[in-house]
Amino acid sequence: MSGTKRWPISPALLVLGLLASCAEPQSPGDNPIRVHPASWMNPQSADFHGTRVAMDTPEACKSCHGDDYMGDPPAPSCYECHDGPSGHPSDWPFPPSPFHGDQVAAGGSEQCQTCHGADYMGGWAEVSCFDCHDGPSGHPSGWAFPPSPFHGDYVRANDALECRSCHGVDWRGGWSEVSCYTCHNGPSGHPENWALPSAPLFHGSVVVADGPEPCQDCHGADYLGGWTGVSCYDCHDGPGGP
Ligand code: HEC
Ligand code: HEC
Ligand code: HEC
Ligand code: HEC
Ligand code: HEC
Ligand code: HEC
Ligand code: HEC
Ligand code: HEC
Repeated sequence: MSGTKRWPISPALLVLGLLASCAEPQSPGDNPIRVHPASWMNPQSADFHGTRVAMDTPEACKSCHGDDYMGDPPAPSCYECHDGPSGHPSDWPFPPSPFHGDQVAAGGSEQCQTCHGADYMGGWAEVSCFDCHDGPSGHPSGWAFPPSPFHGDYVRANDALECRSCHGVDWRGGWSEVSCYTCHNGPSGHPENWALPSAPLFHGSVVVADGPEPCQDCHGADYLGGWTGVSCYDCHDGPGGP
């Protein structure tokens, strides 16, 4: 996690600072007494209030911002700018954007751990990722195996391209560290040696037994490849075989 690292003050900066402190004092109107440091609103700063909350919880804010974080003048309500002490936008739980699932797909789920716990079971936020689905993946429970909601059905109905944001562009894990090759031969869900006539599960035998229609889900209605980019015509004269 980003956060509390502080750099030692360089001698050059120290000299600059001393010079600055010799400058003319500002008028109080230009330089009001503020409770928080100037960098309190700067997400890049170690003093950013969001970082402070992630590290220390928002408990310490209550004394001035109210026990319910609704504000206590002159301290504003945390809900004035976002959905309370979490800092989440208010339409965060559900799609479309800004939707928490998109942020996880883009940046990984590790960024949620400081507040929701290393095990995603709640942490100080006391909201577990498992409350609404099967943890940080956002997958429904039962996703690994048939019957529904089963990931194989989902890929047949859609594609496996969208899985890459978390499982890696090569489907070998990405930030999720779960490779599609762990349980079968990659994003196709095909068994090992599917193209090898001597293999126990050879695609030719499956097509002879069941017809080629089920292949259309992924290889395209015209068998020219669909989203897989692998055409039945690559190796022989179409879906019928040799
Ligand atoms: C004046 C507006 C304002 C007020 C008031 C405010 N915040 Fe924020 N807060 C922001 C902005 C802007 C961000 C950065 C949002 C971003 O980067 O998308 C932020 C971000 C955060 C984050 C980080 C969220 C994240 O996903 O990392 C937390 C936590 C947070 N605020 C907590 C609080 C708490 C607690 C209070 C009340 C004590 C509070 N904020 C009051 C403007 C405000
Ligand atoms: C000692 C009282 C006090 C505490 C403790 C406190 N605040 Fe504030 N906060 C204020 C006041 C007063 C303001 C209104 C601006 C001002 O007067 O500086 C304010 C303003 C803010 C703002 C608006 C931006 C700004 O600088 O005006 C944010 C964001 C904020 N507080 C977040 C927090 C968070 C997060 C915590 C806890 C980690 C916290 N505050 C703790 C008193 C406090
Ligand atoms: C700075 C601390 C913090 C971080 C970082 C954080 N959360 Fe939260 N989150 C909270 C808190 C606190 C709540 C409880 C909100 C409440 O009770 O108002 C919450 C609630 C939620 C909720 C429930 C809906 C809601 O808005 O109350 C979802 C969904 C959620 N977080 C998802 C995430 C995801 C996904 C990440 C990582 C991308 C993340 N959070 C990162 C503090 C955080
Ligand atoms: C209050 C309920 C709630 C909580 C708590 C919650 N989520 Fe979600 N999450 C949802 C909903 C609703 C969806 C959208 C499901 C859908 O579109 O089918 C979703 C979807 C997701 C997705 C997208 C899945 C996909 O296939 O695109 C991810 C990733 C995700 N959540 C991560 C998290 C993480 C990480 C946490 C904990 C920090 C969390 N969620 C906590 C309600 C929640
Ligand atoms: C938003 C990120 C995200 C997306 C998108 C995503 N996954 Fe995952 N997936 C994960 C994470 C993270 C895990 C590891 C879950 C854990 O550690 O609990 C996972 C685990 C899995 C598992 C193993 C489940 C288990 O219970 O062991 C399967 C199967 C899976 N994903 C399939 C898919 C498929 C198929 C797609 C595309 C349709 C997909 N995922 C898209 C994040 C994602
Ligand atoms: C934890 C093990 C596991 C992981 C990881 C996994 N799968 Fe699967 N997958 C299965 C099982 C079990 C089946 C069902 C096999 C069967 O019915 O013979 C399956 C079947 C499939 C099918 C259906 C094949 C068909 O012919 O209908 C597809 C497509 C699929 N998986 C895609 C993926 C993708 C994409 C990923 C990675 C994002 C992935 N799987 C990761 C266990 C896994
Ligand atoms: C769920 C989607 C899906 C379905 C359904 C599907 N395939 Fe595939 N297939 C793929 C993908 C994706 C690849 C590309 C190989 C890879 O990246 O793993 C592939 C590759 C292949 C290959 C080349 C394998 C190799 O090792 O070179 C053959 C042969 C093949 N498929 C035959 C079939 C046949 C026959 C059917 C119907 C019985 C079928 N497929 C149904 C997704 C699918
Ligand atoms: C990577 C090359 C490759 C791809 C792609 C491929 N096949 Fe094959 N296929 C083979 C090989 C090798 C054989 C065995 C040829 C032989 O026995 O002469 C075969 C044989 C077959 C047979 C004949 C089985 C028999 O016993 O008569 C059928 C039917 C078949 N494939 C269907 C398909 C379909 C449908 C697709 C597309 C979804 C496809 N194949 C894609 C390599 C491929």
